[in-house]
Amino acid sequence: MRLDDRVALVTGSTQGIGLAIAGALAGKGAQIALHGLCPADEGRRLADAQAGRWGVPVAFFGGDLAMPEANAALVDAVAQRFGRIDIVVNNAGTQHTAPLPEFPLGEWDRIQAINLRAPFLVMQRAIPHMRAQGWGRIVNIASVHGLVASIHKAAYCAAKHGLVGLTRVAALETATDGLTVNAICPGWVETPLLDAQIAARGAQKGLDRAGAIRDLVAEKQPNQTMMPPAWIGEVVAFLCSDAAAGITGAALPVDGGWTAQ
Ligand SMILES: NC(=O)c1ccc[n+]([C@@H]2O[C@H](COP(=O)([O-])OP(=O)(O)OC[C@H]3O[C@@H](n4cnc5c(N)ncnc54)[C@H](O)[C@@H]3O)[C@@H](O)[C@H]2O)c1
Repeated sequence: MRLDDRVALVTGSTQGIGLAIAGALAGKGAQIALHGLCPADEGRRLADAQAGRWGVPVAFFGGDLAMPEANAALVDAVAQRFGRIDIVVNNAGTQHTAPLPEFPLGEWDRIQAINLRAPFLVMQRAIPHMRAQGWGRIVNIASVHGLVASIHKAAYCAAKHGLVGLTRVAALETATDGLTVNAICPGWVETPLLDAQIAARGAQKGLDRAGAIRDLVAEKQPNQTMMPPAWIGEVVAFLCSDAAAGITGAALPVDGGWTAQ
């Protein structure tokens, strides 16, 4: 299941799930375009460290994907730097929780822009490259909240359900082109994205961080485990392999049984 010489762009990969995905792909030989919002010198240091760790070329790219024009520019920059683009993982994402009647319009718009519009714009630009090569893998990091709902996550659930639908359309439109397009739907994964939710649960129930995490996970996720980001990375790597050539248009839960209930 090697990915030698494949060029992979992972959006939002300077931390959390994205960094674990980049590591999983690099560990199988892929060249990596790291991307994130951190300052350029910090991004370059991270890229050098990853290149040293995995023994593959790694370059850092910036770009705020909430800005429409940044998405195509990112794909162009990666294709120019590496000469091709074989794998795209739309991972960058953001969260805000509030009851629906009070949900701030600005947060709604920000979440739709980053979690849904950005994958659309990145795919729009990347698919022609992949078609021309006759091979491509796109993995969209959705969420269990692309399949089911939770209170106070109106914008996030709408965007992630939208991303699952968008994934299916892209899969159908590319099905005879040597491409696959799939979504992964993770449950609870320990990353900075959850810090506000963990702090809120701790304050609500008088729990320390570990207790708040246990309480959140116990509520919905049968495996009772706050999952490490590497568990998502390895599934992405499998979907990018030739072994997974027959899987397209799937929305694959990696959710400890959450959506089996
Ligand atoms: N952590 C979880 O429990 C969980 C569960 C299901 C799905 N997800 C999804 O996984 C993905 C990664 O999340 P994470 O938990 O690693 O979060 P994180 O906050 O650790 O990382 C998010 C990444 O997205 C990038 N990003 C955010 N806004 C951006 C913008 N405007 N432009 C460019 N990049 C931007 C950040 O720089 C960062 O690298 C997200 O799409 C998230 O919705 C996370």
